[in-house]
Amino acid sequence: MGEAVYPVPSEWAQNALVDAAGYDEMYRQSVENPEAFWAEHGQRLDWIKPFTKVKNTSFDEADFGIRWFEDGTLNLSANCLDRHLATRGDAIAILWEPDGPMKADGGGEPHREITYRQLHEDVCRFANLLKAKGVQKGERVTIYLPMVPEAAVAMLACARIGAIHSIVFAGFSPDALAGRITDCDSRIVLTSDEGLRGGKKVPLKANVDEALKQCPGVDTVIMLRRTGADVGFVEGRDVDWASAAAQQSADCAPEEIGAEDPLFILYTSGSTGKPKGVLHTTGGYAVWASMTHQYVFDYRPGQIYWCAADIGWVTGHSYVVYGPLMNGATTVMFEGVPNFPDASRFWQVVDKFKVEIFYGAPTALRALMREGDDWVTKTSRASLRLLGSVGEPINPEAWEWYHKVVGDSRCPIVDTWWQTETGGAMITPLPGATPLKPGSASRPFFGVKPALLDNDGALLEGATDGCLVITDSWPGQMRSVWGDHERFFQTYFSTFKGMYFTGDGCRRDEDGYYWITGRIDDVINVSGHRMGTAEIESALVAHSKVAEAAVVGMPHDIKGQGIYAFVTCNVEVEPDEALRRELVAWVRHEIGPIATPDVIQFAPGLPKTRSGKIMRRILRKIGENDVSNLGDTSTLADPSVVDHLLKYRAF
Ligand code: PRX
Repeated sequence: MGEAVYPVPSEWAQNALVDAAGYDEMYRQSVENPEAFWAEHGQRLDWIKPFTKVKNTSFDEADFGIRWFEDGTLNLSANCLDRHLATRGDAIAILWEPDGPMKADGGGEPHREITYRQLHEDVCRFANLLKAKGVQKGERVTIYLPMVPEAAVAMLACARIGAIHSIVFAGFSPDALAGRITDCDSRIVLTSDEGLRGGKKVPLKANVDEALKQCPGVDTVIMLRRTGADVGFVEGRDVDWASAAAQQSADCAPEEIGAEDPLFILYTSGSTGKPKGVLHTTGGYAVWASMTHQYVFDYRPGQIYWCAADIGWVTGHSYVVYGPLMNGATTVMFEGVPNFPDASRFWQVVDKFKVEIFYGAPTALRALMREGDDWVTKTSRASLRLLGSVGEPINPEAWEWYHKVVGDSRCPIVDTWWQTETGGAMITPLPGATPLKPGSASRPFFGVKPALLDNDGALLEGATDGCLVITDSWPGQMRSVWGDHERFFQTYFSTFKGMYFTGDGCRRDEDGYYWITGRIDDVINVSGHRMGTAEIESALVAHSKVAEAAVVGMPHDIKGQGIYAFVTCNVEVEPDEALRRELVAWVRHEIGPIATPDVIQFAPGLPKTRSGKIMRRILRKIGENDVSNLGDTSTLADPSVVDHLLKYRAF
């Protein structure tokens, strides 16, 4: 069966920012002469002091360093807000939709419309509040908030004064939060009394109080009242957000920030150790987030744009807040979930706000697809022009459903491949330029030089499978791991010398289209969220009854990948169903619900080589339910371990 190809619809080819020829030409310029290309496109920002140097980057150990626009200065909050006030001050910046919809009888919570002028004022007041609390340029501010406009206010206020924000997804546990606060040495935490998601309350303030038992360095907690719940309030430490912000002046001059000064830290899972603080700086990130947002979504001011990601993930940073606001967009911010109160919710919000561009995750689409087409088709969706996908491979079946049922066969789909580390989209169609193949992220964005290597690092040409690397720097690239620059180099630039290693496997077809096949390291992608298997393993072994654990991915219809854990208990323990449930609850408590194991298989032993190394290859095969050929097991210390694993495996 040949692959389906969806040509660029003619109205897109005619009206889009770039057509096919335009893409070819711009791409060629961007890789042949990056200096000139980025000198030109760097002008899209308002600089305080214009840059004279464009690109100063090396992936080689001897002179390793990544610097873009390094002598320029700017303020990102001014680029998101102040620059729009004269022309678009009364345009809506944020359209916020609460967790629950309005009821037919007029009950329920209304949505909020926040203009650029209002947002500017809110950000200035909050920036002044941070300053009043002693927050200095370069200091880390931890943000643990639900999807409310104040989260964007907090981010922009940090950017305004040059503080570095570190957002911790509000689904993470107190332990996970504490680890992140400690790692970046943050003494201030922003949170709310509770969060609301899918009609359920999330005890955010209680989680903060719990986490702070481990974080003696935190002296200030600013708490937003979201539900009005009666929560703990520590005098001298805790501050009521609304009343404290209201006392501040609405005037706050933006700080002059160097292009290479840090903007934010975002923790993400890797194949080893605890999550790393991915560090992004200001100038290059801003160019990348705004430019990709404009071209990938063909964004024009005035259009209503909705990225359904949470601000706790990089997609929320780049495509709910920074990218759209730099481009003067109206960005929808949604507090809820796709299936509450029912599976029409997304499309009802689309109709309510006349959303033109919708950007979501395959896992949500697969979950909605399972509920049947009626939930979609009973809504209009006539406003939609363009759809996007992000976070994990989208299977062709879900792609076709998205295209046909959600988009009424009318809207192109941009399947954007990128990572927390890359700052913004890297391999992606452009809607006016790229014929689409369901399941392929297609072609590189301007300035991105992908390559495929074999396991020995040899460059592969033409149609082939391989390890995906990027051979040269792009402005949105992460600059370091917070507090551990050496780990940054080791993680990304030592596997294949002189190249950025993505951790993804990939196929390139005869048309030069890239098809991401998934992680090839010990990272699994659960519902579009990255989990290090090592992290889940260390949570499991922290339980007093567990001696050893190994975690691998498994195919999952909705989540893409599920979590399959092999657990060896201490000798005196008799594993049973109750213990299984206890361990599931334990991992949820240690990390958060996103790390919930789907399968726990008890095993008297794990397959180890004589030198004591766990042979993960075998476990991965069991997790993938592909046990016909386990490969060479002769080097195992005790090959009979495998028989037990196979006999009691989950599938
Ligand atoms: O494996 C790739 C997958 O998600 C990983 C990055 O995860 P994270 O840093 O959490 O960022 C997610 C949001 C950008 C990648 O290494 N991934 C992301 N987008 C796609 C994807 N896999 C296939 N297709 C995509 N469009």
